[in-house]
Amino acid sequence: MNVGIITASDKGYLGEREDRSGARIAEIMEAQGYTVRKKVILPDDQQMLQDEMIAMCKDDIQLILTTGGTGFSKRDVTPEATKAVIEREVPGIPMAILQYSLTITERAMLSRAAAGIRGETLIVNLPGSPKAVDEALSYILPSLKHGLDILLGNDAECAKKVIQEDNTRM
Ligand code: MTE
Repeated sequence: MNVGIITASDKGYLGEREDRSGARIAEIMEAQGYTVRKKVILPDDQQMLQDEMIAMCKDDIQLILTTGGTGFSKRDVTPEATKAVIEREVPGIPMAILQYSLTITERAMLSRAAAGIRGETLIVNLPGSPKAVDEALSYILPSLKHGLDILLGNDAECAKKVIQEDNTRM
């Protein structure tokens, strides 16, 4: 499975700040067996973010993970860029990240992250700090893999797994 990583950061783009979050995402995803096909740093510019997401979708990338630009700053436009390019929203992923993250920090409520599907590519926004990236990915990765398998037609067996994991259901 190919992953694209986009860091949205004005300072990172200008070389004024090291992109530790993008590097952390790459490290985690490679350890999980994903191939990092492309990794870019862009300024907090909605059009540039959208153009890169669309280019990655055309470039055999099945999962785009963005980091940064989800907060309240006027320059934070990653969720807007994401919503402009997705065809189907996946609200459960930001909800799951929020639910888990709130058990760690109340400030998790300040992320406006979005997620959705464009064609056969899932796009997920993560907050900007390496700590937040670690926390969010640790929680969503197992389910994300299952969702991607369904999106790509590799797995249609949700119900079977649910029965195996929880005999009380169905
Ligand atoms: N989520 C987790 N899991 N851990 C964190 O430390 N930081 C929060 C929030 N989400 C945080 C988190 C903070 S302080 C902010 S301002 C928002 O993410 C937005 O961050 P961003 O603008 O860098 O995307």
